[in-house]
Amino acid sequence: MSRFLVSIRSFENCLNASLLTFCLKNRFAHTDLPKANFQEHRRKSLESSNVSAVRSIDQRKTTTYAMSFVAGVAALYGFKSHMLHYVQFLSPSRDVLVEAQIEISLRDITVGKVSIFKWRGKPIFVYHRPPFIIEQEKLVNIADLRDPVSDDDRTKRPEWLIVIGICTHLGCVPIPNAGIVPGGFYCPCHGSHFDAAGRVRKGPAPTNLEIPEYKFLTDDTIILG
Ligand code: FES
Repeated sequence: MSRFLVSIRSFENCLNASLLTFCLKNRFAHTDLPKANFQEHRRKSLESSNVSAVRSIDQRKTTTYAMSFVAGVAALYGFKSHMLHYVQFLSPSRDVLVEAQIEISLRDITVGKVSIFKWRGKPIFVYHRPPFIIEQEKLVNIADLRDPVSDDDRTKRPEWLIVIGICTHLGCVPIPNAGIVPGGFYCPCHGSHFDAAGRVRKGPAPTNLEIPEYKFLTDDTIILG
């Protein structure tokens, strides 16, 4: 039995060896395909290695760099335009901007008078203060105030007080030239008193009347916003 097995194994070995020899002699790869030849598509300038060919390559590089530069600049310009469009889209429209800034002529506001204007939906008090009121406010000891600010810090020009006419307690509109302080403001809702610089002097209001953002365009014109 064992002899029989040995002879089978030797037969297998012989068979494997013959197969290997056959495979090595006859390769089953497609080695007979013609190689692609791109010679006719090559640039003539690259076929030789002389100086003019090298120059040609340099010229091509320069052209490539120049084109890359132009493409980069165009991309940056496009990006800038896109961002500008985006920023303009987010910025407020023209009518909102018009309402955001208003010009006020002070010419018709006589001494001692408080004129009321509307700005961004809020009442604005423009008070032409007489000299004795200015003097009165400058003499106030700011250490006694709930919200201590000097008169100079609340006005750009002492004769003009410009404040938002909304009580800082719960938002009522105070009455000008009323209250315990001459030339001051009185809020009838819960009894807050503000002086002629719009500083809280009595009542539940926690802070002074707010000063809006404004500047003088001329001696008798201001712009709010
Ligand atoms: S809202 Fe002016 S005192 Fe209350």
